[in-house]
Amino acid sequence: MGAVDWDIRNFHGYVTHRGTSYNAYIVQGEKTALVDTVKAPFYETMLRHVREVVDPAEIDYIVANHAEPDHSGSLARFAKEASNATIISSERGIPVLKKYYGDMELVGIKEMPRVDLGGKTLSFTPVPMAHWPDSMVSYIPEDRLLLSNDAFGQHIASEARFNDEVDQAILWQEATAYYANILMPLSRTVNNAIKALAGVEIEMIAPSHGVIWRKDIGDILAAYTRWVSGETKPRAVIAYDSMWKSTQEMAYAIAEGVSSTGVETRVFNLTETHRSDVITEILEARAVLVGSPTLNNHVYPTVAGFLAYMRGLKPANKIGAAFGSYGWAGGAKRFVEEQMSLAGIELVENDLDFSYKPTEEEWRKCYEFGAMIAGKIKS
Ligand code: FEO
Repeated sequence: MGAVDWDIRNFHGYVTHRGTSYNAYIVQGEKTALVDTVKAPFYETMLRHVREVVDPAEIDYIVANHAEPDHSGSLARFAKEASNATIISSERGIPVLKKYYGDMELVGIKEMPRVDLGGKTLSFTPVPMAHWPDSMVSYIPEDRLLLSNDAFGQHIASEARFNDEVDQAILWQEATAYYANILMPLSRTVNNAIKALAGVEIEMIAPSHGVIWRKDIGDILAAYTRWVSGETKPRAVIAYDSMWKSTQEMAYAIAEGVSSTGVETRVFNLTETHRSDVITEILEARAVLVGSPTLNNHVYPTVAGFLAYMRGLKPANKIGAAFGSYGWAGGAKRFVEEQMSLAGIELVENDLDFSYKPTEEEWRKCYEFGAMIAGKIKS
């Protein structure tokens, strides 16, 4: 019942190259429920879709799995059309929905842990912090169908509705990017959510963004199990920026050193590549190296933005290092190290902090450091 947002390219700071969708679902037994709504500008689209199937006045329940406005933004308006519906949310969702949309009548899932629609049951499980404290999922045991809201989503705009109907490389790229940029800092609570669903038979997962998983359920569950555990691959990601190509030269020398040992390296300039794309690359990498020139005795602004973003996302189980060049006085490297440490990255010490342009000897030091950190990646 939802809407495809073909044009969105910035989802609260995360670049969504392929748009997204806000999925809402009608569940029909003898009674009818609408699960989730859509972002406010897409209200009319949702209303049209619902009317193609059912008169909104005949809807018995509206389920708000999550209070974030991309899913609840049309709730208050739609509730006026579906005037006979009982609105259900988690207990923690009630004050959030009221704060956003004003006073409305809401029933918590402690009072209503499931609803019998006659032939279909909707059963609710709170999954706090799988994305916000209020997050919950709905499950239809008769269909072994999980309406997972944010979890298992992908930011993909498509006319296709199912995971086997889209390009598989894009699907997995976007599922990975979604986890890295939205759920990575919540790995512990997402793991709790997965545990809460252990023993629940799942044949289909219908998230609130992107396509529905009707195939490869084991694969997406396995991927989430890997991601929540912080499992990494022997890979280094080098993120840097540069004023006069000195820090770039250092980044490339380190990359050559890493790959000389057979360990994969991926290098990103932070002016050219958006920080959220770099974070996607970091999710499964064992090592993160960050290079910044010193500008006005401080870190380069693009590197600062990247560090702030990474610090919030707290990538697990990483080793890393900082490096950079400066003119007459340094400063950036120390700042980068502090921020990486605060992001939870275990630092490998080095003296890759060179004035003006790296000499041949300094180039060699970068190369050797790359080879050394590759040894740590492999161990
Ligand atoms: Fe898709 Fe947390 O909202």
